[in-house]
This record gives sequence, C-alpha cells and structure tokens, in this order.
Amino acid sequence: RILILDYGSQVTQLIARRVREAGVYCEIHPGDVDDAFIDDQPGLQGIILSGSHASAYSDDSMKVPAGVFKAGVPVLGICYGMQSMAMQLGGKVQWSDHREFGYAEVRARGHTRLLEGIEDFITTEGHGMLKVWMSHGDKVTKLPPGFKLMASTDSCPIAGMADEERGFYAVQFHPEVTHTIQGEAMLTRFVRNICGCTGDWNMPDYVSEAIERIRTQVGRDQVILGLSGGVDSSVAAALIHKAIGDQLTCVFVDHGLLRLNEAQQVMTTFADHFGMKVIHVDASAQFMGKLVGVADPEAKRKIIGKEFVEVFQVEAGKLSHARWLAQGTIYPDVIESAGAKTGKAAAIKSHHNVGGLPDTLNLKLLEPLRELFKDEVRKLGVALGLPPAMVYRHPFPGPGLGVRILGEVKHEYAELLRRADAIFIEELRKTVDPVSGKNWYDLTSQAFAVFLPVKSVGVMGDGRTYDYVVALRAVQTSDFMTADWAELPYSLLKKVSGRIINEVRGINRVTYDVSSKPPATIEWE
Ligand code: XMP
Repeated sequence: RILILDYGSQVTQLIARRVREAGVYCEIHPGDVDDAFIDDQPGLQGIILSGSHASAYSDDSMKVPAGVFKAGVPVLGICYGMQSMAMQLGGKVQWSDHREFGYAEVRARGHTRLLEGIEDFITTEGHGMLKVWMSHGDKVTKLPPGFKLMASTDSCPIAGMADEERGFYAVQFHPEVTHTIQGEAMLTRFVRNICGCTGDWNMPDYVSEAIERIRTQVGRDQVILGLSGGVDSSVAAALIHKAIGDQLTCVFVDHGLLRLNEAQQVMTTFADHFGMKVIHVDASAQFMGKLVGVADPEAKRKIIGKEFVEVFQVEAGKLSHARWLAQGTIYPDVIESAGAKTGKAAAIKSHHNVGGLPDTLNLKLLEPLRELFKDEVRKLGVALGLPPAMVYRHPFPGPGLGVRILGEVKHEYAELLRRADAIFIEELRKTVDPVSGKNWYDLTSQAFAVFLPVKSVGVMGDGRTYDYVVALRAVQTSDFMTADWAELPYSLLKKVSGRIINEVRGINRVTYDVSSKPPATIEWE
C-alpha cells in the first residue's frame, strides 16, 4: 500500500492513477497530516510526495511531516516533494520567482534502482537520456548528506537525487504526466521493485475497498442520490447500493427531455434488475410548462437546471431521514470546478448536471468516485455488473434534448427528435468499420441528432411535403474540449437519412454537421 501526500499540485491524481495502473493500491491524503497519522498506517510500503504550486520556502506552504522520513519505507519526492525532502534532510534549495515549464531532456546520472536501464535515447557519448516534463521555479542546489546525483539538465543541475541506502528518491520533473515518456515505467519501478508492492491489486479489489469506505463513512444513515442514467451517477448508485443496500434511495427526475425509452431502461436496470429503491419522478409536464415561449439557449439551460433542483429538493424533503447526498462526481469534475472557482474559464455554456445540487439540502456529501478518471469509472461499472452498453455510452448533457431542440422546446419536437436520434444510434451501433473491426458508435465519442425547427419542401410519392429538418452530429475527441467531426461512411449516412425520412413522419430532410470544435461546440446550444 502506497500513501500519496498531496501538496496541491493539479496532477496529484495522475500519480494515483499511474500507481493504480501498476496494480498497486494507494490513497491520497493532505500533505500536512501529522506524524501520528504516518505512524498509524498498517501495511504501508512507500510514500510519494506530490508537487505543488507553492514554494518550499514560503511560510504558508504545507510542510512534509518529519515522520515521513522516519517511517522506514521508501519515499519518492516529486518536484516540490523533492525540494522539501532536500530542505528537511540537510540539502539546499534556491528560491526563484522564475518558473521553467515544459519539455526537457534529462541526463540520467549514475546507476540507481529507480532509473537504471530506463531511458528514451542514448547520446553519442553513451549517456542515457530521458524526455520529461519539467515544471520548476525553486531548485535544489546542494545534495543532502548521503544523497547522490541521479539526473541533471543544463538549467537544473540537480534534477534527481537518491539515497538508496534509506530508499529516498526524488525527481524535479513530473513522472506522472504522459509527456514524461518513461514516467509510468519509473513509478511502476518505484512502487513494485523499490517498495516491494506485488502489483496484483485490481478493480474487484477496488470495489471491496470502496464498499468498506462507504460503510464506514455512512454507518446506519440513509443516503439519497440523483440518478440520471448517465455513466457517473449509475456507477455511483450501483457501488453505494452494493455497500449499503436499502439505506440508499435513488431519485430519478425525468424532465421529459430524455432519449427514446431511456426512463424505462433506467427503471429496468436499477429497480428491476438491481432491486434498488428508485423514485421515478415524471416531471415532464412541469418542465415543458416552464419552457413554453423560451427560445434563448442560456435561458433554457437555466430554467431546466433550476427546475431540476426544485423537483429534487421536493423529493429529498419527503425523505426526511436522509443524512447523505450521494453524487457521481468524478475527478475531472473536481479539477473543472476548481478551475471554475478561480474564474479562469470563460462561461461558454452554463453546464447543468445532477452534481450541481445546492448546499441548502443540509446533507453531507458522499462522492465515492471522486478520485477516479472516466475510464476507471467505466471499468468499475463493468466490475459492478452494469450493462456494458450503459457504461460505455456516449455522454448526454444534463439539459438533455432541451439543448438539441433549437429555440423553443415543444413536446411534438421532442417526440420527432427522439425517434430520429434512436435510428441514428441504432445504425451507428450496427455498422462495423472493416479496418478497425469496431462499430461506428464505439468509433465516435459522441453522436446524436439535433432538431431544427424550420420547414423545407420535399416530395414523397406524388405529394408535396413541408416538414422539419434534422441535423446529425458525430464527433471524435479525447477530452471534449476540442473535437473533429467524424468522417462517417457515406453509405452509413445514406442509410440513416433514408430511414429517418421514411420512418419519422414530420421530418423530410436530414443534414450532416461538418463543423469542428472550435469554432463550433459539440452541442448546438
Ligand atoms: P460543448 O457543446 O460545450 O459540449 O462542446 C462539451 C461536452 O459537454 C456536454 N455538455 C453538458 N454536459 N451538462 C452536462 O452534463 C450540460 O449542461 C452540458 N452541456 C454540454 C456535451 O454533451 C459534450 O459532451
């Protein structure tokens, strides 16, 4: 078991992720825990000290507890962690207000168990070199007694140091980011070879540990959870239910803007199959009522978000014995909301999801997925027995079809859009790309139909039609911040368009959206 002490770096979670990928269990705790906490860590095999934005010199920076270096286990310091280690063990750190960021080539010096044989290339003089991601202002200028130089660059002569006798290692660069090509190999080597962890920890183990944590946290209390049918809230629900059974009540608010048969699928999976307590609130009439005459995208988003909270609050009020509000917050949400708090991100769209419930509920927060990345959440979902089709589903925005029906939302439009969208998704799933052997649903990151409330003229049989237009949107992206439109095969587009026009009476024209993000966004509103 590895303990990661967090000094406030944006990428601390990535350390945890790499350690988990190496098959080793780890926990992240605040960097200023006391020595008693370090002493009371049964089964502890190693400690990793994260980076930080703070200077190891500043008074308000968190100090590494002295107990870390007396715990008798190997310690790896990263960036700030390295500087703290150097300062506390008798080395010197030079303060600087000038930070160096980005790619660097580091020369691995001497033979250490951490770096030996790990290199990206070898220079003509025979030096092993590493391509790394550096980010430092302060730097270590004198090695602490007992340490030897492990890595260096021109601008940072002490970029890595080690005292192998005591099992202390430190690097100025960040092995946890993928830009450091051998970073994963280094972290794996630290936790497995140096700390001696076996590397057989896996998702089923995570499930049992997470269940234990939830049980300890909530005891005999009742918990409520807003279930949306999306991946995160579904996985959170399945996990919490496994931990505390009927102490969990899910509230599923159907705003009438869901995809075809979605409400039914949610109820079948969670209530029928898993036997969970799910309150299905059909609030579609209420939502539709509030949206009458509203065409502005931001106004629609705000109404749907506010209404959602109100409906949820009413249901939560009925469960007066509940003490906890469970949410499917995952790690990228944690980073995103931290970014939103600093006000750095421009408000392009006001996002709404079930995570955005207010503090006024007076409930304690239970967020069992807080430290996981999306792909880990999916693996967890599969391990919990959720249907893979649900777990590997494309994302669906909180306001649902409300932002896929342009302008005013009407029940009639939603009905047409649901059917067109279902045809598109069905054909994407059915059509396999011969080169990759995968179907086009899995080859795209998000795909859906958009309803355009304009009419165009068509001809069907002998008659003239004057009907609505649907646009198809399919994108490929790794982070949803930028996206390319997917080059779907023409034959697939032809099939989808033919089926929609023939099967969905009221739509006589289908277009394909060939805009990338930026400058377009993925959703149309
Ligand atoms: P855009 O349209 O901004 O979308 O390029 C990026 C991703 O975010 C999703 N999205 C939302 N998700 N609540 C959500 O939970 C929302 O209000 C919301 N709006 C957009 C969108 O589907 C895409 O995956």
